[in-house]
Amino acid sequence: MSKQTYLTGITTSGTPHLGNYVGAIRPAIEASRDPANTNYYFLADYHALIKSQDPAMLRQSRMEIACAWLALGLDPEHVTFYRQSDIPEIPELTWLLTCMTAKGLMNRAHAYKAVVQENNDAGSSDPDKGINMGLFSYPILMAADILMFKATKVPVGKDQIQHLEMARDIAQRFNHHYGEHLVIPEVVVEDRAAVLSGLDGRKMSKSYGNTIPLFDTAKKLRKSVMKIKTNSQEPGEPKDPEGNTVFEIYQAFATPAQTDEFRQAFADGVAWGDAKQQLFELIDAELQEPRERYNALIADPAAINNILLQGAEKARVHSRALMDDLRKAVGISS
Ligand code: TRP
Repeated sequence: MSKQTYLTGITTSGTPHLGNYVGAIRPAIEASRDPANTNYYFLADYHALIKSQDPAMLRQSRMEIACAWLALGLDPEHVTFYRQSDIPEIPELTWLLTCMTAKGLMNRAHAYKAVVQENNDAGSSDPDKGINMGLFSYPILMAADILMFKATKVPVGKDQIQHLEMARDIAQRFNHHYGEHLVIPEVVVEDRAAVLSGLDGRKMSKSYGNTIPLFDTAKKLRKSVMKIKTNSQEPGEPKDPEGNTVFEIYQAFATPAQTDEFRQAFADGVAWGDAKQQLFELIDAELQEPRERYNALIADPAAINNILLQGAEKARVHSRALMDDLRKAVGISS
Protein backbone atom coordinates (compact mmCIF):
# COMPACT_ATOMS: atom_id res chain seq x y z
CA MET A 1 0.00 0.00 0.00
CA SER A 2 1.28 3.47 -0.75
CA LYS A 3 2.27 5.82 2.04
CA GLN A 4 -0.74 7.27 3.80
CA THR A 5 -1.24 10.47 5.71
CA TYR A 6 -3.34 9.90 8.82
CA LEU A 7 -4.89 12.85 10.57
CA THR A 8 -7.19 13.13 13.51
CA GLY A 9 -8.40 15.82 15.88
CA ILE A 10 -9.21 15.63 19.57
CA THR A 11 -11.76 18.13 20.80
CA THR A 12 -10.38 19.71 23.96
CA SER A 13 -13.39 19.64 26.20
CA GLY A 14 -13.17 17.96 29.56
CA THR A 15 -10.69 15.81 31.42
CA PRO A 16 -9.39 12.64 29.75
CA HIS A 17 -11.05 9.50 31.16
CA LEU A 18 -10.70 5.73 30.87
CA GLY A 19 -13.22 5.64 28.01
CA ASN A 20 -11.14 8.09 25.96
CA TYR A 21 -8.07 6.02 26.68
CA VAL A 22 -9.45 2.65 25.67
CA GLY A 23 -11.57 3.90 22.77
CA ALA A 24 -9.29 6.48 21.21
CA ILE A 25 -5.95 7.31 22.79
CA ARG A 26 -4.48 3.83 23.14
CA PRO A 27 -5.34 2.64 19.60
CA ALA A 28 -4.24 5.95 18.05
CA ILE A 29 -0.87 5.87 19.76
CA GLU A 30 -0.36 2.27 18.67
CA ALA A 31 -1.21 3.21 15.08
CA SER A 32 1.15 6.19 15.21
CA ARG A 33 4.10 3.85 15.80
CA ASP A 34 3.91 2.51 12.22
CA PRO A 35 6.88 4.22 10.54
CA ALA A 36 5.34 3.73 7.10
CA ASN A 37 2.82 6.53 7.59
CA THR A 38 2.74 10.23 8.19
CA ASN A 39 0.65 11.19 11.20
CA TYR A 40 -0.98 14.44 12.22
CA TYR A 41 -2.63 14.57 15.64
CA PHE A 42 -3.98 17.84 16.90
CA LEU A 43 -5.95 19.47 19.68
CA ALA A 44 -9.15 20.78 18.13
CA ASP A 45 -9.47 23.79 20.40
CA TYR A 46 -11.32 25.93 17.85
CA HIS A 47 -13.91 23.17 17.80
CA ALA A 48 -14.01 23.13 21.60
CA LEU A 49 -14.76 26.86 21.58
CA ILE A 50 -18.13 26.20 19.94
CA LYS A 51 -19.45 24.64 23.14
CA SER A 52 -16.95 25.47 25.82
CA GLN A 53 -16.88 29.19 26.45
CA ASP A 54 -15.23 29.13 29.84
CA PRO A 55 -11.62 30.29 29.23
CA ALA A 56 -10.14 28.70 32.35
CA MET A 57 -11.76 25.36 31.55
CA LEU A 58 -10.64 25.42 27.94
CA ARG A 59 -7.07 26.27 28.93
CA GLN A 60 -7.06 23.47 31.49
CA SER A 61 -8.54 20.90 29.14
CA ARG A 62 -6.01 21.67 26.38
CA MET A 63 -3.18 21.16 28.84
CA GLU A 64 -4.59 17.97 30.34
CA ILE A 65 -5.25 16.39 26.97
CA ALA A 66 -1.82 17.32 25.58
CA CYS A 67 -0.12 15.90 28.68
CA ALA A 68 -2.23 12.75 28.58
CA TRP A 69 -1.25 11.93 24.99
CA LEU A 70 2.41 12.62 25.64
CA ALA A 71 2.47 10.71 28.93
CA LEU A 72 0.86 7.71 27.24
CA GLY A 73 3.59 7.54 24.64
CA LEU A 74 2.75 9.78 21.70
CA ASP A 75 6.13 10.65 20.20
CA PRO A 76 6.17 14.25 18.95
CA GLU A 77 9.34 13.52 16.97
CA HIS A 78 7.53 11.00 14.83
CA VAL A 79 4.04 12.48 14.83
CA THR A 80 3.13 16.08 14.07
CA PHE A 81 1.34 17.08 17.28
CA TYR A 82 -0.08 20.59 17.47
CA ARG A 83 -2.93 22.84 18.48
CA GLN A 84 -5.39 23.77 15.73
CA SER A 85 -5.37 27.36 16.99
CA ASP A 86 -1.61 27.64 16.40
CA ILE A 87 -2.16 27.23 12.66
CA PRO A 88 -3.51 30.56 11.37
CA GLU A 89 -3.89 29.04 7.91
CA ILE A 90 -6.74 26.87 9.20
CA PRO A 91 -9.25 29.73 9.63
CA GLU A 92 -8.03 31.13 6.28
CA LEU A 93 -8.78 27.90 4.53
CA THR A 94 -12.05 27.63 6.43
CA TRP A 95 -13.18 30.85 4.78
CA LEU A 96 -12.22 29.76 1.28
CA LEU A 97 -14.14 26.55 1.86
CA THR A 98 -17.08 28.39 3.43
CA CYS A 99 -17.50 30.26 0.15
CA MET A 100 -17.58 26.95 -1.70
CA THR A 101 -20.08 25.25 0.61
CA ALA A 102 -23.79 25.19 -0.08
CA LYS A 103 -25.78 26.36 2.91
CA GLY A 104 -28.15 23.48 2.21
CA LEU A 105 -25.33 21.04 2.90
CA MET A 106 -24.84 22.50 6.36
CA ASN A 107 -28.59 22.43 7.02
CA ARG A 108 -28.28 18.64 6.84
CA ALA A 109 -25.48 18.31 9.40
CA HIS A 110 -26.46 15.99 12.29
CA ALA A 111 -24.96 18.05 15.09
CA TYR A 112 -26.94 21.12 14.04
CA LYS A 113 -30.11 19.19 13.25
CA ALA A 114 -30.03 17.51 16.65
CA VAL A 115 -30.25 20.86 18.44
CA VAL A 116 -33.04 22.08 16.15
CA GLN A 117 -34.89 18.87 16.95
CA GLU A 118 -34.40 19.42 20.69
CA ASN A 119 -35.74 22.96 20.36
CA ASN A 120 -38.79 21.74 18.45
CA ASP A 121 -39.41 18.95 20.95
CA ALA A 122 -39.20 21.46 23.78
CA GLY A 123 -41.87 23.52 22.02
CA SER A 124 -39.56 26.50 21.55
CA SER A 125 -40.77 29.20 19.18
CA ASP A 126 -37.20 29.57 17.83
CA PRO A 127 -35.83 26.40 16.22
CA ASP A 128 -32.32 27.93 16.20
CA LYS A 129 -32.33 28.76 19.88
CA GLY A 130 -28.86 28.47 21.41
CA ILE A 131 -27.21 27.70 18.06
CA ASN A 132 -24.17 29.77 17.16
CA MET A 133 -22.67 29.95 13.67
CA GLY A 134 -19.70 27.92 14.92
CA LEU A 135 -21.97 24.95 15.49
CA PHE A 136 -23.71 25.49 12.18
CA SER A 137 -20.51 25.54 10.15
CA TYR A 138 -18.56 23.11 12.32
CA PRO A 139 -18.14 20.66 9.40
CA ILE A 140 -16.38 23.32 7.30
CA LEU A 141 -13.78 23.96 9.99
CA MET A 142 -13.30 20.22 10.24
CA ALA A 143 -12.90 19.98 6.45
CA ALA A 144 -10.18 22.66 6.63
CA ASP A 145 -8.34 20.66 9.32
CA ILE A 146 -8.29 17.65 7.08
CA LEU A 147 -7.73 19.19 3.64
CA MET A 148 -4.95 21.47 4.90
CA PHE A 149 -2.56 18.56 5.39
CA LYS A 150 -3.67 16.48 2.41
CA ALA A 151 -4.79 13.72 4.73
CA THR A 152 -5.65 10.50 2.92
CA LYS A 153 -7.03 8.61 5.94
CA VAL A 154 -9.05 10.07 8.78
CA PRO A 155 -9.79 7.75 11.71
CA VAL A 156 -12.95 8.83 13.51
CA GLY A 157 -15.89 7.44 15.45
CA LYS A 158 -19.18 6.64 13.71
CA ASP A 159 -20.69 9.96 14.72
CA GLN A 160 -18.16 11.74 12.47
CA ILE A 161 -18.79 9.85 9.22
CA GLN A 162 -21.11 12.51 7.92
CA HIS A 163 -18.50 15.19 8.56
CA LEU A 164 -16.03 13.26 6.46
CA GLU A 165 -18.54 12.96 3.63
CA MET A 166 -19.04 16.70 3.81
CA ALA A 167 -15.28 17.30 3.73
CA ARG A 168 -15.08 15.20 0.57
CA ASP A 169 -18.02 17.04 -0.96
CA ILE A 170 -16.53 20.42 -0.22
CA ALA A 171 -13.10 19.42 -1.55
CA GLN A 172 -14.59 18.07 -4.75
CA ARG A 173 -16.55 21.22 -5.30
CA PHE A 174 -13.44 23.34 -4.72
CA ASN A 175 -11.37 21.21 -7.11
CA HIS A 176 -14.10 21.25 -9.72
CA HIS A 177 -14.18 25.02 -9.66
CA TYR A 178 -10.52 25.98 -9.11
CA GLY A 179 -8.58 22.91 -10.32
CA GLU A 180 -7.13 19.92 -8.53
CA HIS A 181 -5.60 21.44 -5.40
CA LEU A 182 -7.14 19.40 -2.62
CA VAL A 183 -6.70 15.73 -1.79
CA ILE A 184 -9.94 13.84 -1.24
CA PRO A 185 -9.73 12.13 2.16
CA GLU A 186 -11.09 8.74 3.13
CA VAL A 187 -12.79 7.96 6.39
CA VAL A 188 -11.48 5.14 8.56
CA VAL A 189 -14.32 4.14 10.86
CA GLU A 190 -13.20 2.79 14.15
CA ASP A 191 -16.15 0.57 14.82
CA ARG A 192 -14.07 -2.06 16.56
CA ALA A 193 -12.92 0.57 19.00
CA ALA A 194 -13.98 -0.45 22.44
CA VAL A 195 -16.80 1.54 23.98
CA LEU A 196 -16.35 1.47 27.72
CA SER A 197 -19.21 1.66 30.20
CA GLY A 198 -19.11 4.20 32.98
CA LEU A 199 -19.89 4.12 36.69
CA ASP A 200 -23.64 3.78 36.10
CA GLY A 201 -23.37 1.20 33.30
CA ARG A 202 -24.15 3.63 30.49
CA LYS A 203 -21.43 4.55 27.95
CA MET A 204 -18.62 6.36 29.78
CA SER A 205 -19.06 9.96 28.73
CA LYS A 206 -18.51 13.39 30.11
CA SER A 207 -22.10 14.28 29.30
CA TYR A 208 -23.40 11.51 31.60
CA GLY A 209 -21.07 12.48 34.45
CA ASN A 210 -20.15 8.81 34.89
CA THR A 211 -16.46 8.88 33.99
CA ILE A 212 -13.34 7.59 35.70
CA PRO A 213 -10.57 10.16 35.13
CA LEU A 214 -7.35 8.72 33.68
CA PHE A 215 -4.85 10.45 35.88
CA ASP A 216 -6.37 10.79 39.30
CA THR A 217 -4.16 9.62 42.18
CA ALA A 218 -4.21 5.88 42.86
CA LYS A 219 -6.34 6.56 45.91
CA LYS A 220 -8.99 8.45 43.95
CA LEU A 221 -8.88 5.90 41.16
CA ARG A 222 -9.63 3.17 43.71
CA LYS A 223 -12.48 5.23 45.10
CA SER A 224 -14.02 5.67 41.63
CA VAL A 225 -13.70 1.97 40.85
CA MET A 226 -15.47 1.13 44.12
CA LYS A 227 -18.38 3.30 42.97
CA ILE A 228 -19.11 1.24 39.85
CA LYS A 229 -22.71 0.15 40.01
CA THR A 230 -23.25 -3.58 40.56
CA ASN A 231 -26.24 -5.65 41.63
CA SER A 232 -27.07 -6.92 45.12
CA GLN A 233 -25.71 -10.44 44.66
CA GLU A 234 -23.94 -11.78 47.74
CA PRO A 235 -20.42 -13.19 47.93
CA GLY A 236 -20.52 -16.85 46.96
CA GLU A 237 -23.33 -16.38 44.43
CA PRO A 238 -22.13 -17.05 40.86
CA LYS A 239 -22.09 -13.83 38.84
CA ASP A 240 -22.71 -13.23 35.17
CA PRO A 241 -19.83 -11.41 33.48
CA GLU A 242 -21.99 -10.64 30.44
CA GLY A 243 -22.86 -6.95 30.35
CA ASN A 244 -21.22 -6.39 33.75
CA THR A 245 -19.35 -3.11 33.96
CA VAL A 246 -16.62 -4.34 36.30
CA PHE A 247 -15.95 -7.28 34.02
CA GLU A 248 -16.06 -5.19 30.89
CA ILE A 249 -13.57 -2.61 32.11
CA TYR A 250 -11.34 -5.41 33.41
CA GLN A 251 -11.33 -6.98 29.97
CA ALA A 252 -10.23 -3.74 28.34
CA PHE A 253 -7.03 -3.79 30.39
CA ALA A 254 -6.37 -7.52 30.74
CA THR A 255 -4.55 -10.17 28.73
CA PRO A 256 -6.81 -12.99 27.47
CA ALA A 257 -5.44 -15.26 30.22
CA GLN A 258 -6.25 -12.69 32.93
CA THR A 259 -9.74 -12.30 31.48
CA ASP A 260 -10.30 -16.07 31.68
CA GLU A 261 -9.26 -16.09 35.33
CA PHE A 262 -11.57 -13.21 36.09
CA ARG A 263 -14.43 -14.99 34.35
CA GLN A 264 -13.74 -18.01 36.55
CA ALA A 265 -13.75 -15.81 39.66
CA PHE A 266 -17.20 -14.56 38.63
CA ALA A 267 -18.42 -18.14 38.22
CA ASP A 268 -16.99 -18.93 41.66
CA GLY A 269 -18.98 -16.10 43.20
CA VAL A 270 -16.31 -13.48 43.86
CA ALA A 271 -17.53 -10.67 46.16
CA TRP A 272 -18.12 -7.39 44.31
CA GLY A 273 -15.68 -5.61 46.60
CA ASP A 274 -12.94 -8.11 45.76
CA ALA A 275 -13.68 -7.98 42.04
CA LYS A 276 -13.43 -4.20 42.15
CA GLN A 277 -10.18 -4.37 44.09
CA GLN A 278 -8.74 -6.62 41.37
CA LEU A 279 -9.98 -4.24 38.71
CA PHE A 280 -8.40 -1.29 40.48
CA GLU A 281 -5.05 -3.09 40.75
CA LEU A 282 -5.08 -3.99 37.06
CA ILE A 283 -5.82 -0.45 35.87
CA ASP A 284 -3.40 1.04 38.34
CA ALA A 285 -0.59 -1.22 37.13
CA GLU A 286 -1.06 0.01 33.55
CA LEU A 287 -1.42 3.65 34.50
CA GLN A 288 1.17 4.01 37.23
CA GLU A 289 4.10 4.96 35.01
CA PRO A 290 2.12 7.16 32.64
CA ARG A 291 0.64 8.87 35.71
CA GLU A 292 4.10 9.79 36.94
CA ARG A 293 5.02 11.13 33.51
CA TYR A 294 1.72 13.00 33.37
CA ASN A 295 2.32 14.66 36.72
CA ALA A 296 5.80 15.72 35.65
CA LEU A 297 4.51 17.10 32.35
CA ILE A 298 1.58 19.01 33.77
CA ALA A 299 3.89 20.64 36.30
CA ASP A 300 5.83 22.22 33.42
CA PRO A 301 3.33 23.99 31.16
CA ALA A 302 6.07 26.00 29.42
CA ALA A 303 7.69 22.79 28.19
CA ILE A 304 4.36 21.47 26.87
CA ASN A 305 3.72 24.75 25.17
CA ASN A 306 7.09 24.45 23.46
CA ILE A 307 6.41 20.94 22.24
CA LEU A 308 3.09 22.09 20.79
CA LEU A 309 4.61 25.18 19.18
CA GLN A 310 7.32 23.06 17.60
CA GLY A 311 4.62 20.77 16.28
CA ALA A 312 2.82 23.78 14.83
CA GLU A 313 6.04 24.96 13.13
CA LYS A 314 6.43 21.55 11.54
CA ALA A 315 2.81 21.63 10.40
CA ARG A 316 2.97 25.18 9.09
CA VAL A 317 5.61 24.31 6.52
CA HIS A 318 2.77 22.48 4.81
CA SER A 319 -0.11 24.79 5.64
CA ARG A 320 1.75 27.88 4.39
CA ALA A 321 2.60 26.14 1.14
CA LEU A 322 -0.98 25.05 0.56
CA MET A 323 -2.40 28.49 1.37
CA ASP A 324 0.06 30.16 -1.03
CA ASP A 325 -1.14 27.83 -3.70
CA LEU A 326 -4.82 28.35 -2.88
CA ARG A 327 -4.58 32.13 -2.62
CA LYS A 328 -3.26 32.14 -6.18
CA ALA A 329 -5.86 29.67 -7.28
CA VAL A 330 -8.79 31.78 -6.06
CA GLY A 331 -7.29 35.14 -7.08
CA ILE A 332 -6.32 36.76 -3.77
CA SER A 333 -2.54 36.38 -3.73
CA SER A 334 -0.65 39.59 -3.00
N1 TRP B 1 -15.07 16.69 15.37
C1 TRP B 1 -14.17 15.68 15.85
C2 TRP B 1 -14.79 15.02 17.08
O1 TRP B 1 -15.57 15.61 17.77
C3 TRP B 1 -12.84 16.27 16.22
C4 TRP B 1 -12.16 16.80 15.00
C5 TRP B 1 -11.99 18.11 14.66
C6 TRP B 1 -11.58 16.04 13.97
N2 TRP B 1 -11.33 18.23 13.48
C7 TRP B 1 -11.06 16.97 13.04
C8 TRP B 1 -11.45 14.67 13.74
C9 TRP B 1 -10.43 16.54 11.86
C10 TRP B 1 -10.82 14.25 12.58
C11 TRP B 1 -10.32 15.20 11.65
O2 TRP B 1 -14.44 13.88 17.36
